[in-house]
Amino acid sequence: SGPLRVLGIESSCDETGIALVELPEGVGGAAPPRLLAQALHSQIDMHQAYGGVVPELASRDHIRRVVPLLRETLSGAGLGLDAVDVVAYTQGPGLAGALLVGTGMACALGMALDRPVLGVHHLEGHLLSPFLSVDPPQFPFVALLVSGGHTQLMRVDGVGHYTMLGETIDDAAGEAFDKTAKMLGLGYPGGPALAKLAEQGDDAAFKLPRPLMRGDLLDFSFAGLKTAVWTQLNKLDPAAEDAAQARADLAASTQAAIVDVLVAKSLLALKQTGLKRMVVAGGVGANRRLRAQLDAQCRRRGVRVHYPELHLCTDNGAMIALAGAMRLQSGRAQASREYAFDVRPR
Ligand code: KG4
Ligand code: ZN
Repeated sequence: SGPLRVLGIESSCDETGIALVELPEGVGGAAPPRLLAQALHSQIDMHQAYGGVVPELASRDHIRRVVPLLRETLSGAGLGLDAVDVVAYTQGPGLAGALLVGTGMACALGMALDRPVLGVHHLEGHLLSPFLSVDPPQFPFVALLVSGGHTQLMRVDGVGHYTMLGETIDDAAGEAFDKTAKMLGLGYPGGPALAKLAEQGDDAAFKLPRPLMRGDLLDFSFAGLKTAVWTQLNKLDPAAEDAAQARADLAASTQAAIVDVLVAKSLLALKQTGLKRMVVAGGVGANRRLRAQLDAQCRRRGVRVHYPELHLCTDNGAMIALAGAMRLQSGRAQASREYAFDVRPR
């Protein structure tokens, strides 16, 4: 059969993303999905003044952006609306009001064009996003999913064949970056800001906990780290001559603690599963220290690590269109003409 084109809509948090992905030989063919075009708008500037995402403002901004971004995507692909065969949208998890914007848009398009729609799990989008890179992974692999809301290690045997190996029992890795960055008075989102400040610091200057590191447990815990950073921060004298350096040192030590735990648990998951391939996805996957340490450790063990392209690490529409396309191709899902507005915030 001919090509199948999946439009993807992401609106779960503070990024509005639209993209068009094509299965060149349709769902029956083996040809891998191809990204035709995408458009993205980040609300980071808007939320910055509040130190975090304001849900009501997020929903309103998604509403303002979806149509212009859809136009941008279609013109980028040189195609019209009638070229869309299926509309995939982020069903959850995320902010309920924000999710409803993408879902509403998907259902409206589906009804108007008489095309089926498909709800996609946001994390599955992140998980599969490396398949859009020039050197895509092969199944099976160990996946480390590290975003603002989730920290999970998974065994991935194929599309839809996911086995949870471990996850955080409290804060997510991205949350640990964001919250400690906030304590240090850095902007939102904290991850990139903390990583930047850390470049000027000494990562051994402060002794910070690496929780749940002993034993063969693959779960994570980052809440204690937050408390430890707060304690250290309160001991610093802001009037001291070396106050700026001390803050950079604390940022570097915090980043080192988070990365150490992520790397150690990833290696443990590889050892336990015996797998020789690994995928890292989600916003924290953009962290350079994490990439450098994981790459170095995995190279020594003959393990290949795959990352999404840098611009696909944080939320975007391409990963949602891709996950929709891969689910259809694998026969794991069918698009529907029921147009149910069934968002799943949790
Ligand atoms: O996947 P994502 O865009 O959104 C969620 O689904 O949560 O991840 C956002 C998270 C935020 O916590 C942000 O601080 C973190 O990813 N992040 C980083 C970096 N870039 C983004 N954390 C550490 N280092 C980075 N370079
Ligand atoms: Zn995300």
